[in-house]
Amino acid sequence: MSKVFYATTPIYYVNADPHIGHAYTTIIGDCLARWHRLDGYDTHYLTGTDEHGEKIFQAAQAAGVAPQAFVDQISARFERAWEALGISHDDFIRTTQERHTRVVRQVLQTVHERGDIYYDEYEGLYCVGCERFLTDKELVEGKCPTHQTTPEARREGNYFFRMEKYRAWLTEHIQTHPEFIQPEGYRNEILSMLRESIGDLSISRPRSRVPWGIHLPWDESHVTYVWFDALLNYVSALGFPAGERFTKYWPHTWHLIGKDILKTHAVFWPTMLQAAGIPLYQRLLVGGYLLGPDGRKMSKSLGNVVDPFALSQKYGRDALRYFLLRELPYGQDGAVGEKGLVERYNADLANDLGNLLSRVRALLLRHCKGVIPQPAPGEAEAATSTAGQALLAKLRPLVHNLRLYAAIEEVLQFVRSLNRYFNDQAPWKLAKDPAQQERLGTVLYQVVEGLRIASILLEPAIPDKARQLRQSLGLGDYTLGQAAEWGLAPAGTPIPAEAPILFPKFEAEAPAEAPAEAPPAAPAVPVKAPITIDEFGKVDLRVALVVAAAKVPKADKLLKLTLDMGGQERTVVSGIAQWYKPEDLPGRKVVVVANLQPVKLRGILSEGMILAAVDDQGNLTLVGLDQDLASGAEVR
Ligand code: MSP
Repeated sequence: MSKVFYATTPIYYVNADPHIGHAYTTIIGDCLARWHRLDGYDTHYLTGTDEHGEKIFQAAQAAGVAPQAFVDQISARFERAWEALGISHDDFIRTTQERHTRVVRQVLQTVHERGDIYYDEYEGLYCVGCERFLTDKELVEGKCPTHQTTPEARREGNYFFRMEKYRAWLTEHIQTHPEFIQPEGYRNEILSMLRESIGDLSISRPRSRVPWGIHLPWDESHVTYVWFDALLNYVSALGFPAGERFTKYWPHTWHLIGKDILKTHAVFWPTMLQAAGIPLYQRLLVGGYLLGPDGRKMSKSLGNVVDPFALSQKYGRDALRYFLLRELPYGQDGAVGEKGLVERYNADLANDLGNLLSRVRALLLRHCKGVIPQPAPGEAEAATSTAGQALLAKLRPLVHNLRLYAAIEEVLQFVRSLNRYFNDQAPWKLAKDPAQQERLGTVLYQVVEGLRIASILLEPAIPDKARQLRQSLGLGDYTLGQAAEWGLAPAGTPIPAEAPILFPKFEAEAPAEAPAEAPPAAPAVPVKAPITIDEFGKVDLRVALVVAAAKVPKADKLLKLTLDMGGQERTVVSGIAQWYKPEDLPGRKVVVVANLQPVKLRGILSEGMILAAVDDQGNLTLVGLDQDLASGAEVR
């Protein structure tokens, strides 16, 4: 089977800025494109903007800007948005580009010459939001169900495409190609629509009313109907009809769309292709709606709109991508909100994945001279040796069927099993026993391998973080197939001495008052329950130099300290403002708990805690050094 893959998103209307619905569909497509590239497919991923039509023309008029200037401006915002979310599209088509308008005129000419276009007077109900005439059956209480608006009654002379003529043929095609429209519910919806007349499709607008569009080749007094124009982007972008890209990619097309544009893609588009003598696309994959955190449709008036770009800035783009991909089964409606994102992020990414990475790195640095150790020869451990192969075999059909949330969950279950293995084997105990050094190497190697495998399988969802994970283990890039091979992390590879925390933990709600850094109010006695030396050994205490200190706005007790911990800079928020002035601190050496889970305090990420002694009167003094030692020195 040829390994070629072509995925498309809808091209987005430029009457409004990009929002989370657009981001969702585009991230799904991006994940699929990255998956296939990683799997060695010759991949082409297309997105773009839909720039003609009445809706855009009206929006430009309302903004008091010439249509071309208006669409240029908003289209550029979509391009920037996709850059911000790490979208790896290979092409960005705009329907005002000459490479597109040329193809639209050519296809119209062909269909016209074949006798499938005629002129007629038409009367119907038009929804400008949908940019199409609605049938009586589609209306709900006289309104468009998608836009909640009453369509306008229109009567005008239009050119028509003989769509009805292709109804029986289309029905047959859908019936004999179960993968053509998915999920099945949408396929059934279209089959039931096709049981009755679909009518012919009005494909032009008089230029006198809508001057913004592609002129018909045989009648310059009409412009092309926006959907007939827009749908052709999927082939014009490939250089139809002669382009090499068209020949290569078109037979492998997966169209991703939202359910709001099902009819145009499942009925208009295949009949247009058939009339123009172009083979059909392979699959249409229909997604549901994103709903607000309250489970209601997002709308500005309900105040439940979620801004993807704000979330991406706050939590990182991979966190947003992960959340949208993991949270919702494709095809179904689902609620999304910041709280859900933070919960999912903390549980899966910060705890299960990031924390395991930090723990294994700390042991490698301390006990294995900072290199990936050699596992004992021939020792096949259950944790990873065949797991990669089994996982990949499970993931392939899940991804093919767009069950991306289930695929991600499989990988996370694997990561959880690695955590259990790590805890059961307790490598920090093995490290203390000179007779167990080989065993220690084997255990740590297993976990490194497991993390390598998980990072490859998660890379299509979280591309930046997957690479960062591997880099912090001294590893580079791999193909998807190499997730199934055990033992590809080369023993002896040095790991970097410093690595940023992969997923700093976030708090769901900003705390009213910062609890973590406030000095303990309890008296020094009675002493807490005893701990073992091993338990104490888990606390990584280091000497650090205060390089800067500042008050935290609107927080009386808090200071923000910038620490140098031996070449690595850290920020720590500390509850010492009542005892120390910011200007007195720079230049002092302090002792910091270096492996404390980072936490956000007053919007600042605090990456540790500095030690202070406090008496029962509440007097506080920082723990310091008797003699000067270099920053980064261990305290034990
Ligand atoms: N321009 C047409 C598509 C032409 S394709 C040849 C269009 N554009 S749109 O800007 O309105 O975007 C529609 C697409 O955005 C939907 O099909 C869907 O993919 C995505 N979404 C917009 N709002 C959405 C949600 N609330 N939830 C999920 N996706 C939605 O229609």
